[in-house]
Amino acid sequence: MASDHPWWRTAVGYQIYPRSFCDTTGNGIGDLDGILRHLDHIVDLGVDALWLSPFFRSPMADYGYDVADFCDVDPLFGDLATFDTLVREAHGHGLRVIIDWVPNHTSDEHPWFRASRSSKDDPKRGWYVWRDAAPDGGPPNNWIESLTFGPAWTFDERTGQYYLHCFLPQQPDLDWSNPEVVEAMEHTLRFWLDRGVDGFRMDVVHLIGKDPALPDEPPEVAGLPHTILNDRPETHAHLRRLRSLLDSYEGDRMAVGEVYLLDTDLVAAHYGDNDELHLCFNFPPLYAPWDADEWRKQITSTAAALDPRNAWPTWVLSNHDNPRHRTRYGGDERIARAAAVLLLSLRGTPFLFAGEEFGLQDADVPEDRRHDPAGRDGCRAPVPWTAKSPHGWATGDPWLPWPPEPDRANPEAQRDEPSSILSLYRRMLRLRRDRSALTIGNQHLHLNTGRALIFDRFTNDETITVAINMSDLETEVDIAGTLLLSSDPARMRHRLDGRLAPYEAVVVSAD
Ligand code: NOJ
Repeated sequence: MASDHPWWRTAVGYQIYPRSFCDTTGNGIGDLDGILRHLDHIVDLGVDALWLSPFFRSPMADYGYDVADFCDVDPLFGDLATFDTLVREAHGHGLRVIIDWVPNHTSDEHPWFRASRSSKDDPKRGWYVWRDAAPDGGPPNNWIESLTFGPAWTFDERTGQYYLHCFLPQQPDLDWSNPEVVEAMEHTLRFWLDRGVDGFRMDVVHLIGKDPALPDEPPEVAGLPHTILNDRPETHAHLRRLRSLLDSYEGDRMAVGEVYLLDTDLVAAHYGDNDELHLCFNFPPLYAPWDADEWRKQITSTAAALDPRNAWPTWVLSNHDNPRHRTRYGGDERIARAAAVLLLSLRGTPFLFAGEEFGLQDADVPEDRRHDPAGRDGCRAPVPWTAKSPHGWATGDPWLPWPPEPDRANPEAQRDEPSSILSLYRRMLRLRRDRSALTIGNQHLHLNTGRALIFDRFTNDETITVAINMSDLETEVDIAGTLLLSSDPARMRHRLDGRLAPYEAVVVSAD
């Protein structure tokens, strides 16, 4: 029987974008050995699970989200033996390993697509979505792809038909209504499950079921990328099957889905009746501004959508697709510190994006150094590990420029400094482990608390109150108890005095 508190409900995830994490070979691109090198940092930080963005064979048109072989490591990052070592070492330290799985599309250089495009009669033709041109010779429908906002269809001269791609033309969509595709993709899951991974982050998994008629987008949403509109019953049938596959393995293997529908009710449906995804990423909070009223709304709507299903929330402030939250919120370190307390104390599973624990901001990437066709380079800047150049990388000239202040925003500079943001993350993560109210506890949001966001986390045994002043003004708060932690190093007091400093967050035990 599944436990009430499987590991993924109490865990904190840590996303690694391998390309940007640490280069050990001198080619300016991070690699799996670079991750192995910094496992101690991750263990010392106190997170529980790694999520590795794609490291599979890929021509890198979308930096690994265009997969040419789902069952091999791209030589840029290492090889399968290094991956196995990484899993073994991570497990040896008590860390789970989740890998990215990209079910909606492959690279146009994947052997399946090469075969599919070779002829209309090829046995793999039906593995992808091919359609004749519209009567005017244009694309079969009005869908827009989501990286450059061009048409979601590309005409293939050789066979005289269009193929569908919800992302770049180099990322043709698989046709999941074809049982051979389902079987082949399930094989790729088994490949990694058999190697011992603890689960998958499933890339845009809400896209795998599509309306077989591929109808035009209605006029009121035409022009929006299809990826934010695709909400189909077919997807749920696929998710139930994927869930059974994961559940047939020992050890609570899990799936966290990237369900990129910007409405929490629609996201919630992808948990099914506890028989689809174990967890879903939910993007509205990531896009919410740093404002107490907005966050009260996000917390309320998340609970309203998920609680009736007994579905467990996730919370994410940064990832490889969006400007880092410190940058989005204006760069002030006090906000980044308060955000750490928020992220690590809300009810649900938080995911950190590597580097946020030492306050990384986005790099300013000059035009001639940009790579990503969708403009996401800033948050993918290399992670600095030491104060001096080349910051723990094998070269001082990585694939993207360094983020701001690499001499300060790195673990070496912050590890032994009690007032650093890294020390705050470590203390907060330790507190989560020590106080079960912060992990499995229920949550009660205080209403009408103005500039301060206040909520309780509680079990039968303890109540913990979290209060976050989201403004730049000192704010009065009506909370009492023992101060467990403050985000403000200058005011690390032992008792509360009814006031929070600008952008101060506190965690209080109501004893
Ligand atoms: C979502 C991923 O997070 C993003 O980086 C990628 O471009 C698209 N899916 C396509 O795979």
